[in-house]
Amino acid sequence: MLPLWYNEYKSFIEKNITNYLEEYLGNKQSNQWLVDFKEAILYSMKWWKKIRSILALEFYLTLNNQSLDSLIKEQTNTWELLNITRYCLSLEFMHAYSLVHDDLPCMDNDILRRGQPTTWKKFWEYQWVLVWDVLNSLSFEIISEITDPILSVKLSNLLSRAVSFHWMIWWQVDDLYFEYNTDKLAMWDLIKLHNKKTWALIKASVQGWILVSWKISQIHKLSAFWEKLWLAFQIKDDLLDVEWTAEETGKSVGWEQKWFVHFIGLSQTKAELKKLIDECLISAQVLKSEHLRFLVWYIGNRIK
Ligand code: IPE
Ligand code: IPE
Ligand code: MG
Ligand code: MG
Repeated sequence: MLPLWYNEYKSFIEKNITNYLEEYLGNKQSNQWLVDFKEAILYSMKWWKKIRSILALEFYLTLNNQSLDSLIKEQTNTWELLNITRYCLSLEFMHAYSLVHDDLPCMDNDILRRGQPTTWKKFWEYQWVLVWDVLNSLSFEIISEITDPILSVKLSNLLSRAVSFHWMIWWQVDDLYFEYNTDKLAMWDLIKLHNKKTWALIKASVQGWILVSWKISQIHKLSAFWEKLWLAFQIKDDLLDVEWTAEETGKSVGWEQKWFVHFIGLSQTKAELKKLIDECLISAQVLKSEHLRFLVWYIGNRIK
């Protein structure tokens, strides 16, 4: 079971996503197709962990010695609250768009995501094409609304590099290449693949908050932490593929050739995950945050 504070962070982010989208789409509902399109956007944003924005939020709060409660209630710095929320939303729009893409027949051809039919399976083609367009552009629109112009430029640079051909799209092409050339995939390629697809957004989540806090010196200090964290996240994803069913994880399982397990076996994969999580827990001590320690533990022990 997730702790109370995790659910509070999650509802805070979800409430802001709903409010933002309601305001954005609310007065554009003059016919049934527009109403259905709104449903397609909201559908693509539902039923998930929100781990990237929760990590980002926790990093921000930890680095600034604040609690979410005090930030919301005391409203000591309203601009800061607004900017933090905007970056969280931007990460979530981007993540949602990347998964709508990832599930398409021309990519992973997946029909199940978070226990529901994937966006392309549930909606018309024009709808899911436009859903990803809108989520991608919204993600940058919302960053451009960050009140500090220098911060806004830095964050959009960070995010665009994470999801462009520097990282995420590079991975998507590489991933498809190995899908059709599995005999050419070596352990080292697998680590690189995981690096490009998962690390990019997780790193952007954490670094973004360090930038918002203007605690740039932390970026270098924490690099070992997030490098290990992305790998742990991905190894856990591979273990879910092997050990759990689609009903339990809410998404398709069984990509044998791309598992860590395929290369190093089940027990060594589990041992590697444990080692990485233990190392991350040690690095997280620097930040003295129980929440962060929980997030690290959760990444290694989640079942979804
Ligand atoms: C899934 O990410 C995509 C990967 C990078 C493995 P999450 O496991 O964060 O998915 P949701 O958003 O919580 O469903
Ligand atoms: C999706 O990766 C990650 C993205 C960055 C789009 P996967 O294809 O491995 O993840 P799942 O298993 O569909 O969530
Ligand atoms: Mg994929
Ligand atoms: Mg996939």
